[in-house]
Amino acid sequence: MNHQTKVFKITSENFSDVIRECAEIIRRGGTVAIPTETVYGLGANALDPIAVNRIFHAKGRPADNPLIVHVASVEQVEQLVIEIPPKALSLIEAFWPGPLTLILKRTAIVPDITTGGLDTVAVRMPADVVARELIRISDKPIAAPSANISGRPSPTSAAHVLHDLEGRIDAVIDAGSTCIGVESTVIDMSGGKPAVLRPGYVSEQKIEEIIGEVDIGYSDHVTDVTDVVRSPGMKYTHYSPSATVLLLEGPHNLVLNKISEMYADFTCRGARVGLLVTSTGLSSLTNDIVYLGSKDEPEEVARNLFLGLRSLDERGVNIILADGSFTHEGVGAAVMNRLRKASEMIIKL
Ligand code: TXA
Ligand code: MG
Repeated sequence: MNHQTKVFKITSENFSDVIRECAEIIRRGGTVAIPTETVYGLGANALDPIAVNRIFHAKGRPADNPLIVHVASVEQVEQLVIEIPPKALSLIEAFWPGPLTLILKRTAIVPDITTGGLDTVAVRMPADVVARELIRISDKPIAAPSANISGRPSPTSAAHVLHDLEGRIDAVIDAGSTCIGVESTVIDMSGGKPAVLRPGYVSEQKIEEIIGEVDIGYSDHVTDVTDVVRSPGMKYTHYSPSATVLLLEGPHNLVLNKISEMYADFTCRGARVGLLVTSTGLSSLTNDIVYLGSKDEPEEVARNLFLGLRSLDERGVNIILADGSFTHEGVGAAVMNRLRKASEMIIKL
C-alpha cells in the first residue's frame, strides 16, 4: 500500500465540503485520519472487514488488538451491542460525547476483525465535532485506533499522523492540535463488576461518583498478566519513541537533581540526552529539553506528553530523561501510565 495521502486542512469555510469528501472515502472502504479531542484516530467503516483490515495494515497493528468503534448517536450503539446495561447508560449520560470508551457485549453485525475476535466491542462518542460530523455524514460507525505506527507515541497533530502514516492511508483531516493529548479511559461494562482497563482523561473517581466502586483492571507495567486477559492491547510495548526513555519518580527536587546528575554522566560518555521535564529550572543544561507544563497541572502535562516524546526523537537524542514528579491526580494517572509504558527503566527516588 503506497499511495498519495490527501491532507485536508479544515476551516469553518470548507467544513462541510471536507466532511462530505472524507465521508465518501469512508463509505468506499478507505482510511481517513481524524482529529478527536484526545488524539488523532485512523478511521474506517467499522462494519466493513476489508476497510478495517486497511487500518491494521497501515499501523502494523497486531490482529488480536481490538479497535474502538466511534459513534455519533446512542441509536448507533444499539445496533452494535446486545444491551446497554443501566450503569453503562448512566456513564453515557454523564460523559458522552467525550473521552470515555465502554466495552459491551457485541452483536453479530460487528465483524470479528474489528474486535480481535472478542465477543465484546469498544464504543465511544467523541466530543470533537469534526469526528462526529464525519460519522454522521458517512452514516457508518467508525473504527479508529490512534493514528500512529503501532508502538509509537500517539499523534496529537496531523503532522504526527503524516510522519508515521503518509503514503499508507487515504487522507488526514488537519484540525490542529488535539486538546486533551492522552487517550480515552476504557471501562469494561460487559458484565461482572465494572473495571477500568486503561486510565484516561475521565478519572476513576469521576466514574465512581456515577456508578459506585469499579475495579482497576490495568497495570502500568507491560507484562502484567491481568492486562493481557481483559484488554489485549495493553500487553504490547506502547508509546515508545526510538530513544531510550528513563523515567525518574519521586519528590520534585530529588528528581530534578538526579536528572542533572544523570545528564552530566551520560553526556560525558558521548550520549545525546534529551530532557522531558516539569520545571523550567533545567533549561540552562541543554536545548534538547521539552517543558511538559507545571507539575501541579496534569492537564497541561497530558497535552504536551506525546508531542514532547516525538519532538525529542526527531532531534536525534539517544536517551530521554523523563521527570515523573508531577501530580498523579486526575489525568495525571493516565499520563503516568503512558510514561511508564514508554520507559525502559523506572528509577524511584
Ligand atoms: O482516545 C482514544 O481512545 C483514541 C481516539 C482515536 O478515540 N483511540 C485509541 O484507540 O486510543 P487504540 O486502538 O489506540 O486503543 C484502544 C484500546 C486498546 O488498548 C484496546 O486493546 C482496547 O482499547 N480495546 C478495544 N476493544 C476492546 C475490547 N473489546 N475489550 C477490551 N479492550 C478493548
Ligand atoms: Mg493506540
